[in-house]
Amino acid sequence: MLVSDSLGVNANGHLTVSGCDTVALAEKYGTPLMVYSEDGIRRNCRKFVSSIEENYGGKGLALYASKAFSCLEMYRICKQEHMGVDVVSGGELYTALKAGFPAENIFFHGNNKTDEELHMALENGVGRLVVDNIEELRRIDALAAQMQLTAAIHLRIKPGIDAHTHNFIRTGQIDSKFGFALETGEALAAVKQALASDHITLTGLHCHIGSQIFDIAPFEHAAEVMLDFIADIKAQTGAVITELNLGGGFGIKYKDSDNPEDFTEYMKRVSVVVKEKCAEKDLDVPFIVIEPGRSVVGAECVTLYTVGSVKTIPQIRTYVSIDGGMTDNPRYILYQAEYEVLCANKADQPRDTVVTVAGKCCESGDLIQENAAIQSVEAGDIVAVLSTGAYNYSMASNYNRVPRPAVVMVCGETDRLIVRRESYEDLLRNDL
Ligand code: LLP
Repeated sequence: MLVSDSLGVNANGHLTVSGCDTVALAEKYGTPLMVYSEDGIRRNCRKFVSSIEENYGGKGLALYASKAFSCLEMYRICKQEHMGVDVVSGGELYTALKAGFPAENIFFHGNNKTDEELHMALENGVGRLVVDNIEELRRIDALAAQMQLTAAIHLRIKPGIDAHTHNFIRTGQIDSKFGFALETGEALAAVKQALASDHITLTGLHCHIGSQIFDIAPFEHAAEVMLDFIADIKAQTGAVITELNLGGGFGIKYKDSDNPEDFTEYMKRVSVVVKEKCAEKDLDVPFIVIEPGRSVVGAECVTLYTVGSVKTIPQIRTYVSIDGGMTDNPRYILYQAEYEVLCANKADQPRDTVVTVAGKCCESGDLIQENAAIQSVEAGDIVAVLSTGAYNYSMASNYNRVPRPAVVMVCGETDRLIVRRESYEDLLRNDL
């Protein structure tokens, strides 16, 4: 039933995260509360780092895609675990730098970086700028010239892969706002322009084919397409591209029935494709970069809510109303994302009722899950939604002026607050 090794049920019948009693945590910190397993996050980081060791002899770097969950503590953990990070905004970059994250291991993405963001990145010595479009390339060249430095860049390429995932989170196909298309010649033109720029060093290419992908084949295919292009570049311009960033997108378990391939298997299979392709095309194996986000944090968090009311509409459905909702988890309303839900204080009992878990916003669509199997719940119970670690807190909002929840990290049966609960005063901070 439980989607992560970090979860368990104790002798009181309460759900635990890394051995910590979630009901006690809800009492200590209040709800809604997000509880992350630090052990679980570190375990995932190590898995990614060691897979590069094992398959490429360490010739590579695993970046945590920090859009999945960004806060000071996450960057500190990534630094300790020898990960790099990817950021997509001045705000994420600022947070990483404030956490003391080494700038050279930060890669800066985004399809519309502002001049201010580019300046901030160059000024702080960010490792790589991942360039999305020709206009950005021109702006980086001009800015780097002005600042009298050289910008090391990757070009974001659309490899044209359909990874069979939700449309909203599919980014590698030609009809995407991200990157340069191969088919149209746009990508090669960008390479030539980058090579001709005095203040730009083109070190690598980047692709990202989507998110929550369970199969390995699309990743293998993307690696082949990218290496073919690297060979093409060499043939047509003589330039040697030494870094290949294959993006993130590895699927995780949300539902018990989800069965994503183990990540280590992904790395093993993709490395075979990379090595074979390089041999075929007479290329040196490039420095490999990967960018997992969801798979680092997603399954390592549960969100805890207090049930306020249970409303049964005969023959129709039962609404269980909780003290959070789309403000801390907009993924059901956005993607109809599926989750396992359970009653944290009755976790040892059978999940024999079916309910709709509803948020507290003034919006009928504010649901966390429909037709969810759960224990029989009543007002005052604690509902736990599992696998909420990625793209929940980071996409949270203050709709209806609901403050964002507190975030707690648990580690070896100890717990600590890593993000304070927003206060009403916080909500007024920018009001004049
Ligand atoms: N690299 C790039 C360039 C990306 O755009 C993304 C995610 C990642 C890496 C990390 O992908 P991951 O390993 O987390 O799948 N809000 C959506 C997900 C959007 C993903 C955006 N890009 C959701 O809640 O499912």
